[in-house]
Amino acid sequence: MSKYHVSTTINGEPTEFLCEAQQTLLDVLRDELHLTGSKEGCSSGDCGACSVTVDGRLVCSCLMLAVEADRRSIETIEGMAQGDKLHPLQQKFLEHAALQCGFCTPGLLVAAKALLDRNPNPTEAETRYWLAGNLCRCTGYDKVVRAVLDAAAEMHGE
Ligand code: FES
Ligand code: FES
Repeated sequence: MSKYHVSTTINGEPTEFLCEAQQTLLDVLRDELHLTGSKEGCSSGDCGACSVTVDGRLVCSCLMLAVEADRRSIETIEGMAQGDKLHPLQQKFLEHAALQCGFCTPGLLVAAKALLDRNPNPTEAETRYWLAGNLCRCTGYDKVVRAVLDAAAEMHGE
């Protein structure tokens, strides 16, 4: 089967790969590029575990074809920390124990970062609404929401 050549940027690094027409961006991230932080929960756009941003827009990578990544800028969970320095959201997730099994966590963090990039001072209701597409079986969401609001406050210097 012929493959398509894709030139993209992933976490700020120019990246090229070959993919088949039916491969999703999630398939390529995990299986070809070995960026396994993005998780496959449902493959149908329902759980948010595969969340990444594409040109700054939050998307489910299980619903996007890899060929559509051509000339786009992709951010995944692997690009969130700067070396050993965790992003404030990651730090607050730890401090608030906002994870248990951790399967949903990369997607929640990517989604929460997309929220704070767009709305640096969200209300609790806005945070819950924004994260409604990210399912978590373990935490009950309260700790996640508290962690996001605390990170937002810290990023404001409050
Ligand atoms: S794996 Fe993509 S939304 Fe669930
Ligand atoms: S921490 Fe287990 S699914 Fe969210």
